[in-house]
Amino acid sequence: MKQLRDEHMIQSSIPGLGVIIMAAGMGKRMQSKLTKVLHAIAGRPMVLYVLDVACRLADRGVAVIVGHQGADVRKVVEGADSRVVVVEQAQQLGTGHAVLQARATFSADPRRRPSRYVILNGDTPLLTEATVRDLLAVHDEQKATVTVLTAVLDDAAGYGRVIRRRRDEWLQGAADNSVQKIVEDKDASEDECAVREINAGTYVVDGEFLFPALDKLNPRNAQGEYYLTDIVQMAVEQGRTVAALCLRTIDEGVGINSRVQLAAAERVIRQRIRDQWLEAGVTMQDPSSAWIDAGVVIGRDTVLYPNVTLEGRTVIGEDTTVHSGVRITDCVIGNHVEILDHCVLRGSQIDDDARLGPFVHLRPGVLVRRKAKVGNFVEMKKTELGEGSKANHLSYLGDAKIGKGVNIGAGTITCNYDGAHKYQTVIEDRVFLGSDTQLIAPVTIGAGSVIAAGTTVTQDVPADSLAISRVTQVNRAGWAAKRRAMLAAGTVGGGSSPSHRKLTSLKVDKASGKTSHQNGKSSKGRSR
Ligand code: UD1
Ligand code: CA
Repeated sequence: MKQLRDEHMIQSSIPGLGVIIMAAGMGKRMQSKLTKVLHAIAGRPMVLYVLDVACRLADRGVAVIVGHQGADVRKVVEGADSRVVVVEQAQQLGTGHAVLQARATFSADPRRRPSRYVILNGDTPLLTEATVRDLLAVHDEQKATVTVLTAVLDDAAGYGRVIRRRRDEWLQGAADNSVQKIVEDKDASEDECAVREINAGTYVVDGEFLFPALDKLNPRNAQGEYYLTDIVQMAVEQGRTVAALCLRTIDEGVGINSRVQLAAAERVIRQRIRDQWLEAGVTMQDPSSAWIDAGVVIGRDTVLYPNVTLEGRTVIGEDTTVHSGVRITDCVIGNHVEILDHCVLRGSQIDDDARLGPFVHLRPGVLVRRKAKVGNFVEMKKTELGEGSKANHLSYLGDAKIGKGVNIGAGTITCNYDGAHKYQTVIEDRVFLGSDTQLIAPVTIGAGSVIAAGTTVTQDVPADSLAISRVTQVNRAGWAAKRRAMLAAGTVGGGSSPSHRKLTSLKVDKASGKTSHQNGKSSKGRSR
């Protein structure tokens, strides 16, 4: 598992490279209260995918420009990588203005000033490191001042169009097809609108050119914004080279502006994650229905049945089997674990060789030790179930510490809550709990004890004892037959009728076991 993660690290950062990520815009087209770059894809804020690429390439630092919900974006990006410098763009005056805010960050130490910058939109989570490396290679080969990443789309609406010198012939490979400018969708003429080559929002720009060019931007355009894209035409006018790398597949170029695009990106990222784990030796019976978050790690020879959801920072070991309909969030699961159908597991740890399900609900703080078993309709919370212990049926175990080799009978309930506070239940090694037991916490059951079925445990039980709290059983011979006879004769009705009372007042003679009537009046000997 570790190996797989480290593969990314093999290629080193690029000398002299600074990276700027624009993440200040709100993203109105998302129709959301949440700022766009914090929308999650495969359980991870979209900006972090871009940040991953940036951090692997940058050798002179990464600046993230924040604005809308800046404090939240700051927390997310600083939490992901401590080398990130967050820069505030107080007012969102456009992408050019956004990049300009990073000047001070990169100028502070003249010896560490980047020779080149990679500029990324915070809303292009599908972009890969390999593509940005390719873009840098094109930039270097062509000795360009600005290099833009482009893609040809069937529907280019909404994107900036890449205007080439001889655009009609460009697709046939005309000789001089150099990029002249980028025109935003809202500013494009009818002619320009027809262009299908779009700006993907990823750029390489020379260090000495970038900030002086941004100083010269003006907002005379349809949106009244400072467009970063205008530096392309500026470079051309200065006789500098502008290069472009056109993506073969459009996936990577997708900027997320709407929920429809968010959903499309989710599909792509989920597919990449599945492919990664299939290649790493995980079996998926129906890969398309395996729903695996970006932060999940899965060991070799683990098998996922259809419709499994693995979320958050879940880690699963080797040779573990996860059956259908299981949802696991932020859990650590060992090797050779079997999880049967329809379990919901959150914030818990399951050690090697344990067996769970079907229909188990683990809430945060559960620790299931080696070879332990948790079965049908068992809910657990903040509870440790010791090695080899079993809770196989219909139980609630909360705030409990359960030792090794314990049997938790069907229908056991830890009564951990008195309406105000929660209390702990301790069940020591080798305790046998009969079925339908209530444990009124705080309470401790000593090692090796037996709790009789149906017991309500209210006091601590010393080791190796029997605890039993049941009402002595009474058998009333003939009672049922007599009742049937009365029902047949119509002398017994329902509910509170006099004849009903007659029946319930049938009395047992303790000595003879015979029943007699008490004329509907209650008395000491009244039946239970
Ligand atoms: C931008 C490009 C467009 C390109 C498209 C690719 C410009 C002017 N246009 O358009 O050519 O085809 O991306 O997806 O650059 N942002 C800020 N501060 C601002 C404005 C934006 O940080 O003042 C950030 C946004 O948060 C976002 C990114 O910059 O992450 C792009 O902004 P967005 O408004 O989505 O630009 P587009 O209109 O999509
Ligand atoms: Ca965009």
